[in-house]
Amino acid sequence: MTLRRFFVLEGIDGSGTTTQLSLVGKKLIQLGHSVQTSCEPTQGPVGALIRQVLSGKARLGQNALAHLFAADREEHVNGSGGIRECLAKGMIALSDRYLFSSLAYQTISEDPALPFSINAPFPLPEALFFLDIDPDISLDRIRGRGELEVFENRPFQMEVARRYRCVLGLFGETGTKIYSIDARMEPEAIANEIIDKLIPLLG
Ligand code: TYD
Repeated sequence: MTLRRFFVLEGIDGSGTTTQLSLVGKKLIQLGHSVQTSCEPTQGPVGALIRQVLSGKARLGQNALAHLFAADREEHVNGSGGIRECLAKGMIALSDRYLFSSLAYQTISEDPALPFSINAPFPLPEALFFLDIDPDISLDRIRGRGELEVFENRPFQMEVARRYRCVLGLFGETGTKIYSIDARMEPEAIANEIIDKLIPLLG
């Protein structure tokens, strides 16, 4: 099932999804749209626990982490103030990461079937914007920010990039429109490209 007016940004670490969430959100508001921006991991209690694991402060097995991402997503989609509620009010929902992140990241260390099965019940977005960047460039950006998270190393990010390509291929036939954007460009240029692709979808 595809949810109209639900859009997601995806990419490896340091690809700029968070910057684009803010820029694209602001541009849509300037254009007169009503928008709710959100991110995964969320700001909720499950998201907070996930961030502890990502920072290395808490330790969990990869399968448990995959379940946590799915529990966080459940709240994000179906919980109070979540994506479904926002769409029901006629707003646009724009998310920094969604289930495609789980399919690219959580399939690496453990049973690859698990992320696919636990994420199968979630609705798909109308469109996905993949911020495409070489892991060497994105890792340079991340290093400039300070402390590295557990996934932020070159071999892992190379593998995430490879898996994203497979995942995007798999979802090509689902009804979700997939756009690959050159994420080496300036943030403003990237946001404008996303907006150009979004506007025709908003009808
Ligand atoms: P990120 O958006 O990079 O958070 P921040 O920049 O605020 O630290 O996401 C955190 C990390 O979580 C990132 O490495 C991707 C990873 N992640 C998964 O492994 N699976 C998921 O399902 C999601 C949503 C994120």
